[in-house]
Amino acid sequence: MKDDHEQDHGQVPEQDPVRDPEAGASAPVVSRRSQQIQAAAPFRMLFEFLRRRAAAEAEADDQGRGEHDLLDFTFGDPHELAMPAYVEALRSAAVPRDEQWFAYMQSEQAAQDAAAASLERVVPLGWTGDDLRMTTGGFGAITVAMKAVADPGDEVVYTLPPWFLYEILAVEAGLVPVKVPALQPGFDLDLDAIAAAITPRTRVVVVNTPNNPSGRVYPPAQLTALAAILEEASARNGRRIWIVSDEPYNRIVFDGKPFHSPTQFYRHTLLCYSYGKTLLAPGQRVGYLAVPPGLPEADTLMGAIDSLQVAGGWLFPNAVMQYAVPDLERLSIDIDALQSKRDRLVGALREMGYDVASPEGTFYLWPRSPVPDDEAFVASLARRGVLVMPGTLFETPGWFRICLTATPASIEAAIPHFRAAINEAKRADPPS
Ligand SMILES: Cc1ncc(COP(=O)(O)O)c(C=O)c1O
Repeated sequence: MKDDHEQDHGQVPEQDPVRDPEAGASAPVVSRRSQQIQAAAPFRMLFEFLRRRAAAEAEADDQGRGEHDLLDFTFGDPHELAMPAYVEALRSAAVPRDEQWFAYMQSEQAAQDAAAASLERVVPLGWTGDDLRMTTGGFGAITVAMKAVADPGDEVVYTLPPWFLYEILAVEAGLVPVKVPALQPGFDLDLDAIAAAITPRTRVVVVNTPNNPSGRVYPPAQLTALAAILEEASARNGRRIWIVSDEPYNRIVFDGKPFHSPTQFYRHTLLCYSYGKTLLAPGQRVGYLAVPPGLPEADTLMGAIDSLQVAGGWLFPNAVMQYAVPDLERLSIDIDALQSKRDRLVGALREMGYDVASPEGTFYLWPRSPVPDDEAFVASLARRGVLVMPGTLFETPGWFRICLTATPASIEAAIPHFRAAINEAKRADPPS
């Protein structure tokens, strides 16, 4: 018989848990929660993908090419040395000015003030430093946001294809993921499906704009309509539904188009930001969680956030990163150069016959796989030394993701391989 915990979440690990032989046959070595996290499909697929990527690197090594000859379009990682001004900001912040420089540090006011002033230029709502807390990147902000408003057993709704780690953050918080496929073509929010997915247990709707992986920036009309749905459902449920707005790419928008944050349409929104994208330095964990100015519940929420950051294991960025924030706020990767890479690759792929939209923001292209089996297609590119991510990893088979943080030279080198791979697919399955 299932115990309460398993009944609540319906997420029993598929594999038998490892037992502790000394404590007796029925005693699992690790907690149920950790088993549930490991059993989550996106997590398993991510590790399988990393295993395959490592194998491709090893094979390239065996063939004498070396892993650096692989053309890697997988993660939003840097492929060139960091900006000198970025390095200088960290170097300067690392020099102690007093004996307390490296003392325990929660969220630092100077960092909050600089972050708020900068956020105000992107999302003009009158933010001050007191409206936000510095976190360990977007991950830290999302997990604290979810836990601040949702209790175990509550449901969290998000759109597919998602950033592939929402599920484990939800499961780790004891929440139940409810997934709603995006509308096609275009990957807009499916508002009717979101409305239909809301139940009395719904507590959070995650919105990610600009969207990873589709590159879509949701327009005001969609965010207005979503807000109306959530107001109505909150009133019906007698309990507020919160938006967790995951917007680490809110400064990576192309063609001079405007960005609109869900906070501008629905004030019960918790805004999550990461510096990892704008600065292309995701290993240096810094971001923030912001609560819209003037929200009546703000003080209560800030108290919850402060305590969850401590209880979650001191989820504050380290002191050096926080001292650097005012300088870091002045920096960005070259968005025009990123846009040029987008244009070059989208143009080339379309000319070869790929079905690919031009992303409005983010680092990513999201083409349709020329064959229904996206994993087989991704494997065919890997055999040619080009690494991309299958749509299956984003619970959306039939598509794949290309990351544009690769260098222009890598893009040029990969173009013939993208051509060869689609030509091979066309030969195997000629149009009727
Ligand atoms: C949509 C989205 N949300 C959150 C994150 C997490 O960002 P970070 O690793 O900087 O915390 C990422 C990183 O890829 C992302 O793409």
